[in-house]
Amino acid sequence: MIPSVLPTYNRAPLQFVKGEGTWLIEADGRRFLDLGAGIAVNALGHAHPALVEALTTQAQALWHVSNLYEIPQQQALADKLVDNTFADTVFFTNSGTEACELAVKMARKYFYEKGQPERIEILTFDGSFHGRSSAGIAAAGSEKMTKGFGPMLPGFVHLTFGDLDGVTNAITDKTAAIMIEPVQGEGGIRPVPDAEMKALRQICDEHGLLLILDEVQCGVGRTGKLFAYEWAGITPDIMMVAKGIGGGFPLGAVLATEDAASGMTAGTHGSTYGGNPLGCAVGCAVMDHVADAEFLAEVNRKSGLLRQKLEGLVADHPEVFESVRGSGLMLGLKCVAVNIDVVNAGYDNQVITVPAADNVIRLLPPLTLTDDDIAEAVARLDKAAALVETQLATA
Ligand SMILES: Cc1ncc(COP(=O)(O)O)c(C=O)c1O
Repeated sequence: MIPSVLPTYNRAPLQFVKGEGTWLIEADGRRFLDLGAGIAVNALGHAHPALVEALTTQAQALWHVSNLYEIPQQQALADKLVDNTFADTVFFTNSGTEACELAVKMARKYFYEKGQPERIEILTFDGSFHGRSSAGIAAAGSEKMTKGFGPMLPGFVHLTFGDLDGVTNAITDKTAAIMIEPVQGEGGIRPVPDAEMKALRQICDEHGLLLILDEVQCGVGRTGKLFAYEWAGITPDIMMVAKGIGGGFPLGAVLATEDAASGMTAGTHGSTYGGNPLGCAVGCAVMDHVADAEFLAEVNRKSGLLRQKLEGLVADHPEVFESVRGSGLMLGLKCVAVNIDVVNAGYDNQVITVPAADNVIRLLPPLTLTDDDIAEAVARLDKAAALVETQLATA
């Protein structure tokens, strides 16, 4: 009999009932060190007092009114995002997938309004992930996500990750945009080198294309800059944001320049819940912390510390790990052993990591993790690796 919850996930048999900072407490009382942060969502950890305060204060005042009216919390969050980024304007969504939908619509509408309606194609890359909607899976294009869900939304051209010549060769008079994650998350923590980001920007400028960045996973302080594009010294035309911006409250956004957004006039897009007072009150509190230079400097310092210790872990366990990669607190351990076995051995040692493609385990801890948490994380991963070694020896 089908379970009452549609079985689209293979869930671990863990039921968390409480969260405190970097820790999750299981129903049986065990404490787990959370290096997953709900897949890069709990940027300020669990039950951060400022977020609890923002949510409860707003909950006591007003939950929802719809976008038929002005929403001061939404205005405030949009202003913070505009003040701190390349963007001139913001549309709020409830998720990264919805942000992807709007990014695609916005790019196509841009060229339609400019009198080039034939420019509908968006170039994307293998290993990418842009959500599970019809546009999201068509954009990513992998068999794993698209099989059985056809017909696919047309207008996406799938290219090899890292192949710049392939990008140039794929551009035709139908091309509208390039869409890319500055650091692939689901694809296995694969950063796009700064030089390549710069080259993509240049290609877009030369051919009049829009550069769409998907910073759903790598944005909001995750890489040690407020947004990852800053590392390359470039700016996009359109950017998708979600996950960390809500700190655990479902919230996403599309940020855009005035020019890129010029086709999106009244009535062209909407959302009942997007940008509602609860989500935006929390989003403002997240931004107040994460957009702070000292906070980001700490993310970079802790990234260096964690990375250094992880290099030692990899060296100590060559049968389990191959290498460390990533940026900021978005790190991947490329495994020699089967990555799921390492994640499961982590559960046995009460440390949470997240599997990704390319046989990688992801470490996406709360950006607020402490130096003690880092030491504890590596100690627990060390035990997990030893467990995998024992399993390999007895297999
Ligand atoms: C890069 C990227 N884009 C889009 C999405 C989809 O976001 P959501 O699951 O919030 O719809 C994700 C989710 O993992 C993501 O990592």
